Amino acid sequence: MTIPHDVDPSVIGRLTCGSLRLDDVGNEVVLRGWVNRRRDLGGLIFIDLRDRFGITQVVFNPEVVPCAHEAASGVRNEYVLEIRGIVRARPAGTQNPNLVTGEIEVEGHAVAVLNAAKPPPFEITQTASIEESVRLQYRYLDLRRARMQANLVLRHALVRAMREFLSNRGFIEVETPTLIKSTPEGARDFLVPSSGFPGNFYALPQSPQQMKQLLMVAGLDRYFQIARCFRDEPQRADRQLEFTQLDVEMTFVEQNDVMTLIEQLYIELTERFSTKRIREKPFPRFTYQEAMARFGNDRPDLRFGLELQDVSEAMRGTGFQAFANTLDAGGQVKAIAAPGCAGYSRREIDELTEIAKRGGARGLATFALGDDELRSPVAKFLSDSEIDAITSGIGAKRGDLVLAVADTPDVVAKSLSIVRDELGQRLGLADANEMAFCWVYEFPLLEWNAEEERWEATHNPFSGFLAEDADLLDSDPGRVRAKQYDLVGNGSELGGGSVRNHRRADQERMFALMGYTPDELHHRFGALLDALDYGAPPHGGIAMGIDRFVMLLADETSIREVIAFPKNQRGLDLMFEAPDVVDATQLDELGLAIAPEQRVDLWG
Ligand code: AMO
Ligand code: AMP
Repeated sequence: MTIPHDVDPSVIGRLTCGSLRLDDVGNEVVLRGWVNRRRDLGGLIFIDLRDRFGITQVVFNPEVVPCAHEAASGVRNEYVLEIRGIVRARPAGTQNPNLVTGEIEVEGHAVAVLNAAKPPPFEITQTASIEESVRLQYRYLDLRRARMQANLVLRHALVRAMREFLSNRGFIEVETPTLIKSTPEGARDFLVPSSGFPGNFYALPQSPQQMKQLLMVAGLDRYFQIARCFRDEPQRADRQLEFTQLDVEMTFVEQNDVMTLIEQLYIELTERFSTKRIREKPFPRFTYQEAMARFGNDRPDLRFGLELQDVSEAMRGTGFQAFANTLDAGGQVKAIAAPGCAGYSRREIDELTEIAKRGGARGLATFALGDDELRSPVAKFLSDSEIDAITSGIGAKRGDLVLAVADTPDVVAKSLSIVRDELGQRLGLADANEMAFCWVYEFPLLEWNAEEERWEATHNPFSGFLAEDADLLDSDPGRVRAKQYDLVGNGSELGGGSVRNHRRADQERMFALMGYTPDELHHRFGALLDALDYGAPPHGGIAMGIDRFVMLLADETSIREVIAFPKNQRGLDLMFEAPDVVDATQLDELGLAIAPEQRVDLWG
């Protein structure tokens, strides 16, 4: 790992609290920083002085410089000090191997208080958990904590390495605008009213998608950007209203070119900036269909097996009605074998059943392969050969617990994949020291929106489709496969992209299926469609979620831990108190009026 916590003082121009070593013993030094901790041991006062680069212990002895000792006795945690003193080797036995400066200390000869501090709402050195709302309200104090600083340093190192990696390969970084036209891509747009043109709105980009495609039409060939994206959608542990992508687009490429490039980058980033082992190189690649069949999920966690096994054929004609009826109706029966779980209690099985139900399952059939008996509430409905097929037939061994769901393929996939993830966690199969990457590709191009009675893009309306599926666009659009690929890491969608439609006719065909009238098309996507008429080259790209990757490498469970100033789970900025109502005059200037009964008063 080469995360530069430890910075050469010569590039900073002053000594830092991480600079001093045994070589400096005897030197007179000046250090500035915050009081991390002050201990008053009767005679001696110890101050741990902290900055981003480290901690240095300073000792004040009343017999050496009494006035410095006197000054040190008045300081409190988080005061900002300038300390002058002499570097000493620490006495034998008092070295601290946990600090880079742990072999020395500074004998304090003078203290200047650069600023006092109120007692912070939480101890900066505290490792026990602190309520998140307090951390977010006082984020500038929260960010003083070592863990948060390490996360931001890691983030910086990753972004810097991304820039270097791509720049070295002929990419140029281009900034694209933040005020654009509203063309919702899946989430709701954030709108920005224009004062010059009341009633007109800019929108914040959900991604630079159209702009990067236009840069390819412009002949820029290889583009990237560390791009801020804005999406008005519900917050989750891995979602923010605004987040950052490494956005990439390339000319004259097929999907393998983009995948190979990003794979090299992500191998380099993981190996340079974490101690995690990459489970498999090159990254395994699954078609969407294979991922769904084997893991029930298009972002499978591959740190463990627990694959879904199809037992539909063996169950056809069974006497167990729940299975038989499902199969008659065109559904399927799939099962997974949980190793060593035969002893699960009734309660544990009920818990798993509830988890399966969250995915829509009507039940969870279980088969516990005890030492000399099979425990199963449904065994009595099944023949011996059927039981064999669903236990030893799927590779289950003595001591295992088989869990089966009968339902439509969608429900089976969803419910068994959440059971699979739960077991992966419970059984400790998801090793935190491992990074299991994979590619999932050939996603369906379109999915049916039953409410609006139209097709919509599963990922991106600009994604191209496989040439061999072109005929299906008319006959069976749901089966058309897109040139779309996602990079998955430890069960998280780290990024996604596609090879685009570069011919207007293909793009218009796609939009027609999505139910746009020519007028709407012109209004929303006119610029891009027109550009495709002027010699648009074949092109493709990808966007990688930077926050999510930092979160994985930093072993954080919330995206908020790797963003300097995040919104909370409700999308609120607790520090600045945003969003907030604005003055009536501001609204007037924009020609806007808010109905009083619709106004929400958030901050009292
Ligand atoms: P997509 O919408 O899949 O693709 O986004 C790419 C990646 O961005 C991350 N991501 C998010 N991270 C945090 N908070 C969010 N709300 C959030 N939404 C998405 C994910 C995701 O994989 N223009 C296309 C890319 C392309 O086709 O080139 C796009 O934006 O890691
Ligand atoms: P029931 O017939 O609803 O009392 O269910 C009997 C057992 O079969 C229970 O253990 C249920 O969890 C299980 N079960 C019911 N429906 C299904 C289904 N569709 N798939 C799997 N197991 C089911």
